[in-house]
Parts: sequence; C-alpha cells; structure tokens
Amino acid sequence: MDNLYQIVASATADFATASESAKLEDAKARYLGKEGSLTALLKGLGKLPADQRKTAGAAINIAKERIESALVTRREALKSAQLDAQLATEALDVTLPGRGMPRGSLHPVTISLDRIEALFRSIGFEVADGPEIETDWHNFTALNTPENHPARSMHDTFYLLGEDGQVHDDVLLRTHTSPVQIRAMLAHAAAHEDLETMPELRVICPGRVYRVDSDATHSPMFHQVEGLWIGENVSFADLKGVVADFLRRFFESDDLKVRFRPSFFPFTEPSAEIDVAFMSGALEGRWLEIAGCGMVHPNVLRCGGFDPEKYTGFAFGMGPDRLTMLRYGINDLRLFFESDLRFLSQFQ
Ligand code: DAH
Repeated sequence: MDNLYQIVASATADFATASESAKLEDAKARYLGKEGSLTALLKGLGKLPADQRKTAGAAINIAKERIESALVTRREALKSAQLDAQLATEALDVTLPGRGMPRGSLHPVTISLDRIEALFRSIGFEVADGPEIETDWHNFTALNTPENHPARSMHDTFYLLGEDGQVHDDVLLRTHTSPVQIRAMLAHAAAHEDLETMPELRVICPGRVYRVDSDATHSPMFHQVEGLWIGENVSFADLKGVVADFLRRFFESDDLKVRFRPSFFPFTEPSAEIDVAFMSGALEGRWLEIAGCGMVHPNVLRCGGFDPEKYTGFAFGMGPDRLTMLRYGINDLRLFFESDLRFLSQFQ
C-alpha cells in the first residue's frame, strides 16, 4: 500500500503546482481519469485474492477521497485567485473627482444690460420692451423724421419682404430703440384717463436694433438702451445729472469726465452727443462718444399722447456694446457676436 501514499502525495503536489484550472484538470486526469493511476488500482482489485480485496478496496477509496478533497481545495483556491486578479485589474477609483457640468455664464453685453437696468431702476425708472419688427410710423414718422431722411433709405435700413415677394416699406427691423419711446408714451397716456393728473413717465428700453452696416466697430445687429423721462418740469439739467451719475456708477469711478456736445436728431430739440473721458488707464484723456440725447421734440410728445404745453422731457439712446467694450477693455465689437467660448468664458 506504499504505492497509495505515493499516489496521494504526488497528486497533492501536482495540484498545488497547477497554476491555472486547465492544468489542474489535466493533473486530475492523471490520477482519477479513465487512464489515471488510481483508477488503474481500482480496476486491478478484481485480480486480487478475495480475502485481500476488501481491505485493499477500502484503502484505495480513502486515497481517492483525499485526492478529491485536495482537488476541490485547489480548485477553490484558483477560483478565488482569479477573482482577486480580475478585481485588481478592473478596479474603479471611486475617490477620483468627478468631471462635473461645465458652468455657463452670461454674455458680457447681458451683464452690462442687467447692470444698466438695475442702476436705472434704483432711481425710479421702469424697463419697457418693444418689437424688433417695427412699423415705419413708430420707427420714423412719430419720431419727427421727415419722409426724405437718409436713415429711411434702403442702404441703411432692413425692410421686410411680404408674402407677395415685394419689399414693404411700412415694416422694418427697428433701426433704434427710440420707437419704444412712442409705445411707452401711448401706453402711459392710455393707462391714465385723467391726463391732467398723469404721473411722470420714467422708462428705459434696452434691446436689439438693426442697420445695414458691418465692420470692426459696426455690426448689422447691435444693442441700444433708450431712456425717457417726461414730467411737468423736466429740464436739460436733469438729463445731465441723470446721465453723469449713471456713468460714474456704471464704470464704478469718479475719475471720468462727461461732456454734452451739440448735435442734431429729428426727435429732440435741442440735441447733443454724450462723450465720456477717463482720467486714467489706457484710454486716458480721449473723448469717447457713448450716446445721443436731447429734450423730446413737441411733435414727438404729441404723437405719444402728451400735451407739449404742459409736459417736457428728455430722452437718450446709448450703446451698451460700446459701454461694455470700455468697461472690459475690449477692442473689437465682433468678438461679442462670434460665440467663441475662449472669449465668452472669461466673463464667468
Ligand atoms: N436713436 C438715436 C440713434 O440711434 C439715438 C438717440 C439720440 C436716442 C437722441 C435718443 C435721443 O433718445 O434723444 O442714433
């Protein structure tokens, strides 16, 4: 029976050195398979004399159980080693920081418009809105603009094609936010039946405007903010005070000068251009035009439903694109409208 001990020892050793399951199953075949050494001993039992068969059979069975149990142990060890290896290679590092959602941000001109609205709201102005597709009457006629004014030409203004394929010169893309003056006045007058006791009208109108114009400092679409204050004793001095105060607050600086330069607009009389000059920084000492303004023309007041004998008012139209360029030191207007994230993400 020494042979049996050897077989068990050699099987156990073979199993232990089998480094993967296929090799383990080969080793198993060498002992327990059809041609296996232990199987051969079992087959040989029949040739033994009857009195030895029982003890020999029992001994072989014990050896077989040992080999089988060594096999099962090794199988399990290989399986768990394989699982460990798999876990190690497929490991997830749950402590890595996530990629996160990229944060969006407001467009720089939108940031300016929000600030302009907040600053004017703080001194009692409301914010009004008007259509970008405007009638010729609101955009020109009611603003005292004569029939033959150059702004009304096809070179300067986008008119619209009707369904008949013809250009309709009574509807256009508004060329300025000034038509909202007329809409705001008419709405205000309509809202107060007693024109004698009507409260003051104080409104700004920010929005997009359109002109046939395109280069480094002009875009066919740009922004304006209209301002309008109408009351019984509103004067040019109020206009100067409101605008100068606004500019100091917008640029967060007292270190600037504001100048009103005589000019002409059909809808105001007298009219002026507003220039600003910074007393420090890259643009130090240069006068920069940022708005048109004036006292509302009596014809415009009448078209808006106000009595010019009783009411006066001032109006201004400024360019928030320009104000934004000055505030952030941007030198090309087109950057605002190219949607380049390298530019836009700097305003987060
Ligand atoms: N609408 C003028 C423009 O687009 C700007 C302007 C000038 C607006 C004078 C006004 C104003 O309200 O009083 O050039």
